[in-house]
Amino acid sequence: MNKLNVKILATGSYVPEKVLTNADLEKMVETSDEWITERTGIKERRIIDKSQNLSDLAFEAAKKALEKAKIQANEIDVIIVATVSGEMPFPATACFLQKKLGINAVAFDISAACSGFLYGLTIAKSFIEAGTYKTALLIGSEALSRITDWNDRNTCVLFGDGAGAMILQACDKEESDILSVSLGADGTYTNLLNIPAGGSATPTTVETVQQKMHYIKMSGKEVFKLAVCRMTEAAQKALELAGKKDEDISLYIPHQANLRIIEAVGKRLGVEKEKVYVNVHKYGNMSAATTIIALDEAINSGKLKKGNLITIMAFGGGLTWGAAVLKI
Ligand code: ACO
Repeated sequence: MNKLNVKILATGSYVPEKVLTNADLEKMVETSDEWITERTGIKERRIIDKSQNLSDLAFEAAKKALEKAKIQANEIDVIIVATVSGEMPFPATACFLQKKLGINAVAFDISAACSGFLYGLTIAKSFIEAGTYKTALLIGSEALSRITDWNDRNTCVLFGDGAGAMILQACDKEESDILSVSLGADGTYTNLLNIPAGGSATPTTVETVQQKMHYIKMSGKEVFKLAVCRMTEAAQKALELAGKKDEDISLYIPHQANLRIIEAVGKRLGVEKEKVYVNVHKYGNMSAATTIIALDEAINSGKLKKGNLITIMAFGGGLTWGAAVLKI
């Protein structure tokens, strides 16, 4: 059988209404708007409501993508949710979402931290190309505020909540909308960014709770350096695999963890500032939800026209990283 090509039908995104500003954080931990802005570029982030769960965010993003794609939910064959803040250790958040959509699609989660959306994109692409499934709903969704230590100024200023969705479908076009993907991982750095307890290595006990071992821990400085190198290399590799040059790319969408990382990657790639998308000031780092929300926002803002090529890059816990060249 010939390989099928992949069409990106639509994207959608949703962020919770509650805004937590740097001024709000000044009242919670010893920090300042000046420090946060200077060191990260973040001004505010969104926080999931008490009445909401992770699949509610995913559901809102999925509804918007379905509307734009002009397809019915029951046309979806597979749901992939990329997240590190799943509703429960198991079952998968994708199953909670499947129930909300009222469909019978195959549903599972993937764990690749901030690179989760790109890992999911690769899985969806492979399913479609192989003819396993025709239509995929890919979600990046995070409720990081629920796994953040709100007394730890090293991490609590960095993260936010939100969800993004992409619908992909098999098509008989000459070329796939996913021109290339380049992924990487290095398990020697599992210690740099993790939630130490609650897994099978260190099950939950009174002590693990008292020692706050169920929250995100990060060695920011080390992660910073690796993020810049690996995202730059991944973008270069994805461009090479796609047979494209910088002048072919309309927009670069890097993971939004820190404005200084974004600027350093842009500089290393030799890309003009205007071609690098930034929304970290509004949302902070939403891990797997970040790049897909940024892409949806860029499309909705009119910054991208049909047929434009973009490069998405991500980096996160694992460590994991990746980049993809897409036609929008
Ligand atoms: N307010 C005020 N001071 C602070 C704060 C804060 N919120 N946080 C830390 N500081 C202090 C530190 O205690 C330290 O003080 P000290 O020198 O007295 O010890 C000082 O500021 C400098 O701290 P650094 O850690 O050196 O600050 P740095 O410039 O490295 O910035 C940051 C920290 C923002 C975390 C940065 O390292 C970073 O962005 N790292 C990468 C994050 C990332 O990309 N993560 C990957 C994805 S996340 C995922 O996968 C879930």
